[in-house]
Amino acid sequence: MKILAFETSCDETSVAVVENGKNVLSNIISSQIDIHKEYGGVVPEIASRHHIENILPVFEEAMEKAECRLKDIDYIAVTNTPGLIGSLLVGLMFAKSLSYANEIPLIPINHIEGHIFSNFIENDVNLPAVSLIVSGGHTDLYYINNENGKIKIELMGETLDDAVGEVYDKIARILNLPYPGGPEIERLSVGGEKILKIKKPNIEGYNFSFSGIKTYITNYINNESMKGNKISKENVAKSFQEIIVQILYDKVLKAVNEKKVNTVLVAGGVSANKRLREKFKELPENIKINFPKMEYCTDNGAMIGAAAYYKLKNKEYDIKENKYNLDAKSTKEKHKDNPKM
Ligand code: KG4
Ligand code: ZN
Repeated sequence: MKILAFETSCDETSVAVVENGKNVLSNIISSQIDIHKEYGGVVPEIASRHHIENILPVFEEAMEKAECRLKDIDYIAVTNTPGLIGSLLVGLMFAKSLSYANEIPLIPINHIEGHIFSNFIENDVNLPAVSLIVSGGHTDLYYINNENGKIKIELMGETLDDAVGEVYDKIARILNLPYPGGPEIERLSVGGEKILKIKKPNIEGYNFSFSGIKTYITNYINNESMKGNKISKENVAKSFQEIIVQILYDKVLKAVNEKKVNTVLVAGGVSANKRLREKFKELPENIKINFPKMEYCTDNGAMIGAAAYYKLKNKEYDIKENKYNLDAKSTKEKHKDNPKM
């Protein structure tokens, strides 16, 4: 089964062709990072305009690379929530038009579910598993189980304030580093020392909070600047990254022990971080840890195609339902099986 998938929720225009949820025939990503760098973050209006310019050539390239024609495509999948509304609408309208004109069924996909299923690409996942999603917009912990052949996704915890990627970007901005901040902080931290004694926030259960860490670092930089002291960006980056990685590790370890799973899945833009990947190797030996390949960490169409495949397998998709009145939603949508998600 071949799924043509569209992802335009933020600043990446991506189109992929995915076969049977695992085999990626093409995954073309046109990133707008260089455009938004100038502004220190994604400017929604500019992002949607660039999606409009990019979507047709990216679609054509994805079809060409996959050596496909529309008659070979069984389903069209598209991210319709959550994300920047203007950006989502470009992908959704394009996918809807293709679906309507070519009579190919349309499958709406939640972007976060896309990240979850990026771990299933080119990889056999043993369920149950604990899945950590760390991106620019989300920091969520899920329990994923297979119930009578149906994959169930249950939200265990989420950030109460900023997402991990968002704090990486904000700290980078304070340090006058370019956008996106994650890779910059990772690069600088290699030469740094953990000189700041940042306390772990005391958050019960599986929720997260990162705003206190952001405030602590902002105050440290302001105080040192006022005293006329030189700030070592390397040391700040290292201290910041170490506490972040420790918080994520501790919550996952707690979840693994409580849920008694042997599989940990980590996905989303921050899962590209090498220190995070290194730290997770400290999990008990019986735990199989999966990080997606680098190209499936940040936003991409392949993960949307993979998620659509499992949605079909789960029979969560009603072919008779009219999908042409489908709308885009910017906020995190409630999951059908789990109103907390
Ligand atoms: O998943 P993603 O592409 O977009 C969202 O859905 O938000 O994630 C983007 C986020 C950005 O905040 C970026 O700074 C962060 O992922 N990121 C990283 C790294 N690469 C990207 N954070 C830490 N280390 C990295 N190597
Ligand atoms: Zn994302």
